[in-house]
Parts: sequence; C-alpha cells; structure tokens
Amino acid sequence: MADFSQSQPQTQSQPIRQFFRELVPATDTLLWYFGGLVLFFFGVMLLSGLLMLFHYQPSAAPTTAPDGTPLLLARITDTTTWLGVEYLPGQLVPVRADSSGGNADFPTPLRSAAEVVCDSATGRPVHPSAAWVSIEHVVMRQTEFGSLVRSVHAWGAQLLVASLLIWFGGLAWQGAWRKPNSAVWSSGLLLILLVLASAWTGSVLPWDRLGYAAAWVGSSLPEQGIPVVGEPLAQAMRGGKEVGGGALTRMAAAHTALLPIALVLVLIFHASWWRRGVVSGNRGYDPSKPFSAAAVLAAGCGLLLVIYPFIASPFNPASPFFLLPLLLLPVCAAQLLNRLAGGAAVSVTSSQASSDGLYRQLVCWLLVAGALLTLAIAAPWTRGEGGFPIDLTQSQLAATQLRPEWYLLGFYQLLEWCSASVAMAFLLSVLLFLSLLPLADRPASAAKGRGAIRWMVYALFLLFLFLTLWGYMEVGG
Ligand code: HEM
Repeated sequence: MADFSQSQPQTQSQPIRQFFRELVPATDTLLWYFGGLVLFFFGVMLLSGLLMLFHYQPSAAPTTAPDGTPLLLARITDTTTWLGVEYLPGQLVPVRADSSGGNADFPTPLRSAAEVVCDSATGRPVHPSAAWVSIEHVVMRQTEFGSLVRSVHAWGAQLLVASLLIWFGGLAWQGAWRKPNSAVWSSGLLLILLVLASAWTGSVLPWDRLGYAAAWVGSSLPEQGIPVVGEPLAQAMRGGKEVGGGALTRMAAAHTALLPIALVLVLIFHASWWRRGVVSGNRGYDPSKPFSAAAVLAAGCGLLLVIYPFIASPFNPASPFFLLPLLLLPVCAAQLLNRLAGGAAVSVTSSQASSDGLYRQLVCWLLVAGALLTLAIAAPWTRGEGGFPIDLTQSQLAATQLRPEWYLLGFYQLLEWCSASVAMAFLLSVLLFLSLLPLADRPASAAKGRGAIRWMVYALFLLFLFLTLWGYMEVGG
C-alpha cells in the first residue's frame, strides 16, 4: 500500500506544479464514482439554474402583461393548441383580464377551451404571481428547451442528493471521520447541509402551494425547535412573522447567490482532499474477478427498473425505488467499462493517475448524463396539485398540503411521532455528534470506545433508513 503522506516537497511559489506532482491514487471503487458525481451534478445544477435565471422573476406580486394589463388564471377544459403549444384539460395558463378586470379576455384558441379560475371562498379570480408565471408558463411552455432545462434542474437535484447521501454514507461506513480524513468528513457534512438548504430554498421559488408550504414548514422548524435564537432566525428567513413576498425574495437570493457561492467554496476544499483518494483507498481490484459486485448490482438495478413501473400504481418516477437504481445502473456500468478498457487502477503516479481518474470519471458522467436526460425527456418535471399558484390576496392558502421529497421522509416521519421541538432537538444532537466525531474519535482513543462510536454511527444510519421507509409507506411513495 502506498504511503500517501509522502507528497513531493512543497514550495509556496509552485502550487500548480505541486498540484500535479502530488501523489494521487488512481482508484475506481463504486464509492469513488459517487464522489465525482457530486461534482458533476453540482455543475449540472449551476448550468441549468443559470439558464433559468434569464427568465425567472423572484416576485410574489400579481403579474401583468408587458402593456400593464393584469393577468388572471385560467384552466384548460378541452385539449387545444395556443401559440404552438398543446394544452391538455386541467392545465393552468395565465390570460389577460378584460377592461373590467374581473373577466378574461381569452385569445381565440382558448375561447371555448378554458375557464377563469376563481377562489372558492371569495369567488374572485386568482391572479398568478410573477414567479409562478415565469416558471410554469414562460420557462415551461414559451421557451425553447425550457421544459427540458427545468426538468434537468429538478431531477438533477434529486440525483445530487442521492449521490451525496451515498457518498457520505460510504465515508461513514469507512469510519472516515478519523485522521487523515477528518477534513473530508467535516466538509462532507457541511456539503449535505448546504445541498439540503439549496433543495429547500429552490422548492419555494415557483411560488405555488408546494413552495408556500415548504417555506412555512421549513422556516417554522427553528421557531418551534430552537430556544432563544429560533424565532429571530425564522423571521430572518421569512422576512417577517408571516410567509409573504419577502420570504420568496430571500429564498431566491439564498438559492441563486449565497448558497451556490458557499457550495463552490466547500466543494473546492472537499474535492481537493477527496482527490488524494485517501478515503476510497488505492485498492485496485482483483483481475480474476472483474465483474463481481458491480455486475450483480447492475443486474439487480436493471431488473428493478424494468419491473417497478408494472408493480407501482400509480407509477411515480420520483420514488427512491426508481431513482436509486436509475442512478446506480450507469455507475456500475461505468466501472465495468473502465475495468474492461483500462484495467485495474493501481498506479500512484501523480499527473498520470489524475488523468486516468478523470477519464474514468468522465465515462461515468457521460452515462449518468444519459440517464438524467432520458428521465427529463420521458418524465418532464411536474409539481402536480402542489403546482397551483399562490395569490397572497386570496384565501386558497388554506388548501396547502406538503408532500415531502423522499430524502426528507425520515424527518417527516419523526415529526409525525413527536413534537417539532423534540424532533429538532434530536436532529441537532445528531448533527453535533457527527460534527464532533473527528475530535472524539482520535487515534489515541481506546479501541473499545472507538468501536462504540462506530456502532453508534451505524445505528444512526439504520434509523435513517427505517424512518425513511416508514415515512414512504405512510405517504404512499
Ligand atoms: C446544489 C445546488 C442546487 C440545488 C440542489 C437546487 C435545487 C432546486 C430545486 C429542488 C428547485 C425546485 C424545482 C421544482 O420543483 O420546480 C430549484 C429551482 C430553481 N433553482 Fe435551483 N438548485 C441548485 C442550484 C441552483 C443554482 C446555482 C441556480 C442559479 C444560479 C438555481 C436556480 C434555480 C431557479 C431559477 C429555480 C426556479 C425554477 C424551478 O422551480 O424549477 N439553482 N432548484
């Protein structure tokens, strides 16, 4: 086994040359591919997010047409084509109000195929916000490839969280909180928090029922669960006591500026440690068993992908039973291909190893990009009932219902069983425990204590799986 601590002598004047000379193990364990996928998906999120920013308007105020005419919400009643786009019954579209402001001035194709949507309590027409119209109408229907970009962003978020959880789970499995990996561990923990915060703030941006509920539930958790600072923290997130337009602007600023900057910084730090590959280990593989684990896993994932649509009713591509095999299959295929083409990755030869590693990662990224694009084209992203726009001047806010993403089901289930303050106290204690592990579990600690810590981490992992499965059964996937 190579000694990775023996890097080349470092002079401050040659950091770039040093970067390429550094001893880097070339490795291609399955876990190592997931580390690379975190980088890949972050790039996808950055690119697709930036493209949507050309159209996105972070405003909860009712929107108007460019000439100042207010827009109303209409529901399609008969299949029709308008401005080259086909609309199906039940879909929602913004239409101009007439001069009275209460009725719609329907364009000819919609005249007998749509009706104005009114709030059930007030009977007044619903005015969609600028944010909702910019995403659900402009990006999804009026922009070329807009629906694809939005779907890539939304499905990419799911796969990014999955890759990160698998990556961090693998770090935990290897006990990677100990030296010399403690920096990878701590930055990985920070990455999970930042990515979850990104997913949460992102889900608020379309400003629909789901986004509004996510803003309420997410911002009220610190209020209910953290003494003293919880309330001011919640109000800072919302921009006041209530969830309103201020909350949307703050979430948008956090999602599109603050969190991406923080993520880039943490990723640079995390990746430069991970690049040394100390965690995944320079194990190479046994050439006599080239198809072992990856082949079995790939076959299992392929089988699940084929049978899941038949056994699930209704078929939900956002289910973890579909998304996880969809992610694992191309990763296993990449590992098998790389091993067939490039053999074992065992060399520890600085820049050679880096380029070999990069090549192996690129194969994986290409296959995963294929899976992501197929998913985005075959199942364009939709928020279902939760996609109904929010009009802050009306009463339809009461109809809001939150259906958590699969990776939040565990915490959701905890909230079902105990009060928000107990659930938050538990969550914060787990975070504190995980972040203090590098300090508590030093090489000098007694072997007995180290074993106990390891078992506690495994127990937490099992608890997460158990709660997630339970939550999954409760909400029906
Ligand atoms: C780790 C990084 C990111 C994650 C996990 C993430 C996640 C999300 C999620 C879950 C949504 C809601 C999707 C939906 O249901 O419609 C969203 C929306 C959005 N995100 Fe991101 N995002 C990330 C980075 C970015 C970046 C870097 C930008 C731009 C600079 C961006 C811009 C947007 C915009 C404009 C929306 C609203 C459109 C929509 O709802 O699809 N995101 N994001």
